Amino acid sequence: VEEWRILPEAKDAVAALEDAAQYLKTSDTPVAFPTETVYGLGADATRSGSVKGIYAAKGRPSDNPLIVHVADLHMLRELLGKKSDDQDAIPSRYQTLIDRFWPGPLTILLPNPQPSKLAPEVTAGLTTFGARMPSSPLALSLIKLAGVPLAAPSANASTKPSPTAAQHVKDDLDGRIEIILDGGPCQVGVESTVVDGLCEPPVVLRPGGIGMEELRSCPGWENVVKAYKDHSEEGKAAPRAPGMKYKHYSPKARVVLYESTYKDGSAGVLPSDIEVTGATENGEARKTNGHLSKRIGVIRTQRWKSGAGLECGALQPAPVNPDAHDDEYLNPAYQVYKGDLKNSQGEVIGELFDIDLGQDTKRIAQGLFSALRELDRRNIDTIFVDGIEGELDIAAAVMNRLRKAASEIRS
Ligand code: TXA
Ligand code: MG
Repeated sequence: VEEWRILPEAKDAVAALEDAAQYLKTSDTPVAFPTETVYGLGADATRSGSVKGIYAAKGRPSDNPLIVHVADLHMLRELLGKKSDDQDAIPSRYQTLIDRFWPGPLTILLPNPQPSKLAPEVTAGLTTFGARMPSSPLALSLIKLAGVPLAAPSANASTKPSPTAAQHVKDDLDGRIEIILDGGPCQVGVESTVVDGLCEPPVVLRPGGIGMEELRSCPGWENVVKAYKDHSEEGKAAPRAPGMKYKHYSPKARVVLYESTYKDGSAGVLPSDIEVTGATENGEARKTNGHLSKRIGVIRTQRWKSGAGLECGALQPAPVNPDAHDDEYLNPAYQVYKGDLKNSQGEVIGELFDIDLGQDTKRIAQGLFSALRELDRRNIDTIFVDGIEGELDIAAAVMNRLRKAASEIRS
């Protein structure tokens, strides 16, 4: 990789966009670009070579289909094998959703015509494809300038939390791609809601930026049901053996999710028997005061209080960017606090890093992935996360991602 082209550093943003669009037309290496949900790793969806480049850069299994991003309905109608101005090209059930939520964080499944303009690698052998019109002006301009639909998964390395800042993409894919367009932090912070309206009743395949309640308020979608399973519903609430789960959204640290305990926000939330998995780079156990040194992260949302019931000294602001990460690494801007972790005798046995994502559900969604990444960057062994409630709004997406990230769920 010779060069990172990150937009704000470019002299001329329009020129950088045009460069990236040109590159997309001919290169087999994908381009990372911002959307309102998460950063995407885009390639010309009509060329096999470029779509294969996505799977290669991400290390993603090729049996997982990609979402096709369009700039307008003309582009979508052509993908359906129809004339670009054919008003009946898109199945009518989607009309209300498109009117209401596009451009925006919603992906709809459509029949893939044969022959198809899409490279076969996009759909991974399925008879449908997922389509989305993102609302990010940068994303829309890029697709328009490229003049082709862009297949794009989230721009993280496979199994990692999705990127919500350009720096996250660079952390994961440095050396594998050449261009990252930096549009600042993503507003939504979790991926699009994926719906299938081709079946009866219509279903949500992945919870995301558009909640169930909003979908149900649209004609034709009143009886939409969820067709995804959360771990808690699969009888996996009990601790799961490490390595047994399908890894997804996972930081390096072990994540322990508290679904609904301690609703009163009382202290004494976290267990005293915190396991330590960490060791120094040379394989030796870290020590503090002769004890195995624990590095614990806490992500607080709606219930837990500062320190979340762990024995700890006073918490102090911990510089957010000690390694000169850009200011948007934490999104939205929030403070990381740091303090001594103590045992019941009051001896210091490690460090505690505390992030408060606040009460607001949208803000929690916006900050979730960056909080997981921030704690990873600080070499945390175990992250304790305070779950939130709500099945009908973006809380469903937050909990879905956390359940996937967690190696242990306590309820
Ligand atoms: O917000 C988003 O959707 C982001 C941004 C970049 O647009 N993209 C994203 O892509 O999250 P990805 O590849 O990480 O997730 C795509 C999801 C997967 O769960 C995939 O299984 C599903 O969409 N999907 C795509 N095409 C499908 C199809 N034909 N049938 C069923 N599921 C499909
Ligand atoms: Mg993804």
